[in-house]
Amino acid sequence: MEGPRPVPRLTVPILEVPAPEPTGQLAFWSEVGIAPMPVREIASADLVRRRVTALAQEIAAELGGEPLTLAVVLRGAFVFAADLARELISNKMENLLVTFFHASSYRGTKAWRAPLIQELGESSVDGKQTILIIDDIVDQGHTAEAMIKRLSSPTRRVEYCALLDRPEARAVPVYPRYVGFKLAGPGFVVGYGLDYDDKYRELPYLAQWVPSPPVSE
Ligand code: IMP
Ligand code: MG
Repeated sequence: MEGPRPVPRLTVPILEVPAPEPTGQLAFWSEVGIAPMPVREIASADLVRRRVTALAQEIAAELGGEPLTLAVVLRGAFVFAADLARELISNKMENLLVTFFHASSYRGTKAWRAPLIQELGESSVDGKQTILIIDDIVDQGHTAEAMIKRLSSPTRRVEYCALLDRPEARAVPVYPRYVGFKLAGPGFVVGYGLDYDDKYRELPYLAQWVPSPPVSE
């Protein structure tokens, strides 16, 4: 058969992030007498690594052969983008351009203004390159919508890759083509670049952030 072999779209694994129940943690916390880091692992570093490897294979099968620019959405995607870029090289996707955008819309767990998108430094986005936007999570979809609007052009292809996708939360109809994990539930996720007010980005695994229980009298 001529042409590239069609790759079946892989099933995206689902991570459960239920609404947290802080009171359920209270007994354990007071028993051990310390306040542990308020996070619950939902995907190990090894699971994340294997998923990033599979995603890179999927992307290389579909976008290999085209000159590609990675447009990394800071700050949450910095760890994911670094790992994915190196996996793309392992899949013979060479001569990548990498450029960075800063998007900010969250304070704590609540959106507080429309996303502000700024490219960092001098732009390396040109008219013809295929662009792969790399994001940490598509939640309501406002950031994804703003990034796509910013980079769309009739002369080039723009695709979206998100480590995490929470389709239940979608307010605007944008759906990333490449997704690492789907989230089921409203729980807030940290680690592997994702933060809660700039904390927990350095965790090598993905975790659900569990709010601290109220201090008892
Ligand atoms: P959206 O515009 O609502 O899709 O939100 C996208 C941005 O919100 C992401 O790039 C994250 O920075 C942030 N965000 C949304 N949900 C979470 C979460 O569960 N953990 C950490 N950041 C989140
Ligand atoms: Mg963030």
